[in-house]
Amino acid sequence: MRIVPTSYTEGLTSKLSSAIQIPMARVTRRRFADGELYVKMEEQFSEAILVGNTYPDQSIIDILLTHDAIKNAGAKRQILVVPYFGYARQDSMFQPYEAISAKVISELLYSRFEKIFVVNMHSPEGLVFLKDKGAEIRAESILGEQVKKDENDLVVSPDGGFMEEAKNVGRVSGLETIALMKTRISDTKVKIEVPDDFQIKGKKVALVDDLISTGGTVLEASKILKEKGASKINVYCVHGLFVGGTSKYTGFVDEIITTDTIEGPFSKMSVSNLVSSKLREYLLL
Ligand code: R5P
Repeated sequence: MRIVPTSYTEGLTSKLSSAIQIPMARVTRRRFADGELYVKMEEQFSEAILVGNTYPDQSIIDILLTHDAIKNAGAKRQILVVPYFGYARQDSMFQPYEAISAKVISELLYSRFEKIFVVNMHSPEGLVFLKDKGAEIRAESILGEQVKKDENDLVVSPDGGFMEEAKNVGRVSGLETIALMKTRISDTKVKIEVPDDFQIKGKKVALVDDLISTGGTVLEASKILKEKGASKINVYCVHGLFVGGTSKYTGFVDEIITTDTIEGPFSKMSVSNLVSSKLREYLLL
């Protein structure tokens, strides 16, 4: 068996390979002059675990070509780990005649893999499209351990949508958990309110979320929490996309830590042990 990265998951795949003790496949990738991707396995193997995100768009092509290459290298079993499932937010038609991206991407993957593990899918509705092959790996325990280690006073979810998950972070870290009230105004703008009875003054706040995309949510929540007297704001997030760069967070938050489902400057928590234990369970290792 081999564990196979895409171009976007090499760091995590390498950690996962050590955790699960399955060697990484030797892969050659390059781009043709026009930017098209070339993928080749440099060895034969009979079973493969591919680790690939469906974000950014190029990574979807990477998964499809790598899947074909591992099949051509002899793999009869092909399992997919999707650390970050992009396109999951459009999981239904919010307006007539929209494309349901979560369904489209799921259908692309479903026919190709025997099992598809996803770390923190954006919503339970999204997972439905992977039918019997989908399995979710939840990373709140990792966030909770880090929140505890950093000696925060309070866990805050920026909205009601993440409250159940935030409560799990609170349980692991042994802290009270509250949710703010968020109204989305546009793709990049949100309005956030803090209920009057919440005691924020002087508290070291752990602001937790599943995703930082444009950062609108985290920045607005941090601003209002500071206004309410929070002494420190540490942000903990599963998937850090950081659209538009990371400099805009300076001065607004004290620290940002994400997991390595998307690798970047803040991905200091690793999901490798968590994913490894789920794979071991599935593969009966
Ligand atoms: C919302 O449902 C999610 O939990 C995140 O709060 C949201 O996707 C973050 O997006 P942005 O960083 O663009 O505000």
